[in-house]
Amino acid sequence: MARRPIIAGNWKMNNTIAAGVKLINELKPLVADNKEVDVVACAPATCLSAIAEAAKGSNIAIGAENVHWEKSGAYTGEISTEMLNEIGVKYVVLGHSERRDYFGETDEGVNKRSRAAYAAGITPIICCGESLEIREAGTYIDHVVAQINAALEGFTAAEVAELVIAYEPIWAIGTGKTATFEQAEEVCKAIREAVAKKFDQAAADAIRIQYGGSVKPATIKDLMQQPNVDGALVGGASLKAADFSAIVNF
Ligand code: 13P
Repeated sequence: MARRPIIAGNWKMNNTIAAGVKLINELKPLVADNKEVDVVACAPATCLSAIAEAAKGSNIAIGAENVHWEKSGAYTGEISTEMLNEIGVKYVVLGHSERRDYFGETDEGVNKRSRAAYAAGITPIICCGESLEIREAGTYIDHVVAQINAALEGFTAAEVAELVIAYEPIWAIGTGKTATFEQAEEVCKAIREAVAKKFDQAAADAIRIQYGGSVKPATIKDLMQQPNVDGALVGGASLKAADFSAIVNF
């Protein structure tokens, strides 16, 4: 079954408005001819509005890095789906290991945020991944599958078919240590099998699973050849137009 590749940049806490707009403007012509890949730039809240404006009419979709499950109210520091929809944001990165490790994000929170985003027409990019300790203990598949099962609680099979999952082994994030293609494929395959088990084969065949962790222009081609890897979530290399466009145009 052919799934449309999706390559997303996760800018994390980088880029002011001016820098973000400059990056989008540099990126636009470099990815304009690519009709085969969904291209996404996920950015800090402060520059979403400006980069959405800059990306108008291009094939770059804009994503956020967080969203709350409540519609509005006393949730200091949070952002609602209505606020993102007003800007035209189409995706949101949820459950990133940095949110989990530094800001107390839980499986339950990831589930609530994901369901609210989906219900509001914003596609969640749901992240999962194991620490080096869990990798070395050999329980990484159980760990990742448990994260995904929790994140997908309450979704229907038809809804799950439209979601995006990003497998990001924590030991490979920002370390220059990419997982081998076999390691990425092993876990992405296990995630797909878990989706088939919890939902159905159609949902498993349709859901798109990205790999993330030190993805670079030099590594993307082989990665994309893995049958269960449908794209990438790119951190550091998404901050340079030349590198990110080379990844998109693999
Ligand atoms: P790097 O590509 O910088 O390793 O970051 C990966 C990541 O965390 C993307 O969400």
